[in-house]
Amino acid sequence: MAVAFVTGGTRGIGRAVVEALVARGDSVVLTGTSDESVQRAETAVSLAAHDATRVMGVVCDVRDGGSVRRAIDTAVQRFGGLDVVVNNAGVGVGGPIATLDEAEWDRLIDTNLTGVFHCCQAAIPHLKARGGGFIVNISSLAGKNAFAGGAAYCATKAGLDAFSEALMQEVRYDGIRVAHVCPGSVATGFNNRAPEAGADWKLHAEDVAAVVLHLLSHPARSLPSRVEIRPAQPPRK
Ligand SMILES: NC(=O)c1ccc[n+]([C@@H]2O[C@H](COP(=O)([O-])OP(=O)(O)OC[C@H]3O[C@@H](n4cnc5c(N)ncnc54)[C@H](OP(=O)(O)O)[C@@H]3O)[C@@H](O)[C@H]2O)c1
Repeated sequence: MAVAFVTGGTRGIGRAVVEALVARGDSVVLTGTSDESVQRAETAVSLAAHDATRVMGVVCDVRDGGSVRRAIDTAVQRFGGLDVVVNNAGVGVGGPIATLDEAEWDRLIDTNLTGVFHCCQAAIPHLKARGGGFIVNISSLAGKNAFAGGAAYCATKAGLDAFSEALMQEVRYDGIRVAHVCPGSVATGFNNRAPEAGADWKLHAEDVAAVVLHLLSHPARSLPSRVEIRPAQPPRK
């Protein structure tokens, strides 16, 4: 069974990925930014799995490279290695560029893009030590379908798409497969939305988790390196 590291695993898509990985028998380290959110998620996932030995929560802000290195080292020490990294932590839409606060621009870039760089750089030596592994980056259809008011967010996701393609080529001969998953609208609490406010037409976090698990189950010779998943029937425009 694999050892997986999932950023932003306390709720939403990351949490659904954590639950799916634990259900298939993996050992999983989930991260979030606060003691409270991480503890709550670790306890809930452990209880649901009837197994506290394969789930560990670690407080780790992906914007902080030192925090990420410590979290990855903790995962490796606890479970003896690392096989799968899911870079899911992300934050949402900033606002029109004309009035966007620079701190908000930094928050989006540092979390959605630099955070992934931190995690990949810290994880790659450990994946190589196992003879390979899988990195899945949760991007967004916003990376190619830009929209007004989302310039900063869309730029982070377009950047993440390019980062993922390049990294895929850099590490493929080390046995490390890199894929990015681009969801459309998912019914989560993203960007401070009320989770239940999502309409029935939206994807569920579990739908995205199913794609991640499907990717991981591909034979070693195969790499669907970019996957788009969108609601089947969004409201007509
Ligand atoms: N929801 C959508 O419609 C949608 C569509 C396409 C793509 N996506 C992408 O999917 C990913 C997950 O979205 P979601 O909807 O599941 O969001 P969510 O429900 O808001 O959850 C975000 C997660 O990221 C964590 N997080 C936020 N900032 C962090 C940081 N600096 N360091 C570490 N963890 C951090 C949060 O942890 P704590 O709260 O515990 O700190 C939480 O676990 C994001 O990358 C997003 O861009 C979402």
